[in-house]
Parts: sequence; C-alpha cells; structure tokens
Amino acid sequence: MKRITALLGLALLCAVGTAQAQNCTITLDGNDRMQFDKKSVSVSASCSEITVELNHSGALPVAAMGHNVVITETPDVNDVAQAGIAAGGPQYLPEGDARVIAATDMIGGGESTSITFPGSALTAGGDYTFFCSFPGHSGLMRGTVEVTD
Ligand code: CO
Repeated sequence: MKRITALLGLALLCAVGTAQAQNCTITLDGNDRMQFDKKSVSVSASCSEITVELNHSGALPVAAMGHNVVITETPDVNDVAQAGIAAGGPQYLPEGDARVIAATDMIGGGESTSITFPGSALTAGGDYTFFCSFPGHSGLMRGTVEVTD
C-alpha cells in the first residue's frame, strides 16, 4: 500500500513538472526609477497564446515615466526603439512594423495592462529581447526573452 501511494505521488509530481515546463505568461513590473523587475523571462513557443502582463508600480504619469513591453528579435531592438521615438507618443511604437512581435499599451504609474499573442510568433532557441519603447528607456529597460519548446 505504501508503495502504491509513493508511486501515485511520483506520478503527480511528474504531471506538475510537465505543466510547469510550458510557460505561457510573461509578468513584468516597471517602476519610477526606469527599471523592470526582471532581466530575463522565459516562455514556450508551443503555447497557443502567450500573455504579457505589465504592471507599473510607480506613481509618475505616462507622459513622464511611461512603460510598455515590446518584444522583437534582439538585432532589431535599437532600430525599433528609434522608429518608436520618430512615431511619437503616447505609444512610441512604429505602426504596422513587422519587426514588432508583440507590444503592450504604454502605461503610467498605478496602471496595468496585458496583451496576448500566438506562441507560434516565436521560435524556440531564437534571440529575442523585451524592452520599453518610451524615449530614453530602452537602454536600461530591456531584458532577454528565452524561448523554449
Ligand atoms: Co519605460
């Protein structure tokens, strides 16, 4: 009986392990010191939908300390950030730009926002970066998007 219970426990642990292996949510917090709370996030390309949740835990308004989360391939970050500045506020994002894989709305202190995009937009093992496209923020506010199967 003990042995059966142990086996059941092991099976349960394996099931939990499998569920955790597929990560379909990216959660980030931005603050008034122009920082995200993470330098890297991990998601699974096999997710039918990936959710990006952004919270701004600061108090400054969007015009002074706006934050969004933009995901592009890493070599595109600086060009897209520049195109975003050229596009102007409040979103600071080039419209209809194929290099932008996903982007949340730009928000200010005390606000939160989220978006979803298909996991098929990412390739496992690819080189992706998340960043904030508010003018002057992408240098500090960026991190790695690690993509698994
Ligand atoms: Co920002």
